Amino acid sequence: MGISKDEQKVLAATTAVDTLIAEGKIFSGMKIGLGTGSTAMPAVKRLSERIADGTLKDVKAVVTSFQTQLACEEYGIPVYTLNDKAIEGHLDLAIDGADEIDQKNNLIKGGGAAHLREKIVEYNAGFLAIVADGSKDVDTLGTKFPLPVEIIADARVPVIKALENLGATCTVREGVKKAGPVITDNGNMIVDCVWKSPVDPAEMEDKIDAITGVVECGFFTKNKPVAFIAKEDGSVVRR
Ligand code: A5P
Repeated sequence: MGISKDEQKVLAATTAVDTLIAEGKIFSGMKIGLGTGSTAMPAVKRLSERIADGTLKDVKAVVTSFQTQLACEEYGIPVYTLNDKAIEGHLDLAIDGADEIDQKNNLIKGGGAAHLREKIVEYNAGFLAIVADGSKDVDTLGTKFPLPVEIIADARVPVIKALENLGATCTVREGVKKAGPVITDNGNMIVDCVWKSPVDPAEMEDKIDAITGVVECGFFTKNKPVAFIAKEDGSVVRR
């Protein structure tokens, strides 16, 4: 028996931050995008430790959710928006988790309903690092982890019909400890989509995002990341 999934998340996150600092990709004075979820959080924590130990100074963060905003407030990492003069709409690097990552490093994200702001941040970053436990490493996308699609609530019925025309089976995501649907940080609903056979994520990203009423889907294919994937045996594969 190897290390647990939670231990793999911390290992991947810590290894990625320390490696990227050693390689000069995370550096003092940089503008960094910070992701959301149970693997991104240890990366935010590690970043804060490297700020606290004096390795990094004057790091400016742009966050992707209320979860990450709260974490930065707790750790004392200064938060900006992409629109701030200090950021000028572009980040040096972003670091985040993923729900699934295929062999070409295409991603499904949005299991935590944060993929809209994640995509805005990560498609505006010069370098994207993904941190993941071994269970996220898959051959194909579309059939196992449902693809999250953030939609305008008023467009629910036509959007679901259009997604079904693309072959998807759709479910409106239900809240936990909240009656009714999940409402995102941006005030929208989430439809989770699965297909009977694997799909081409790059083609599907464009087709889904072209549907009127879709705000953003969880396929990430346009800013190819470097992935740090921790395995049960305690190793970390870089791909
Ligand atoms: C948030 O909506 C997501 O895109 C997360 O990055 C993704 O769901 C991975 O989350 P975990 O690291 O918690 O599995």
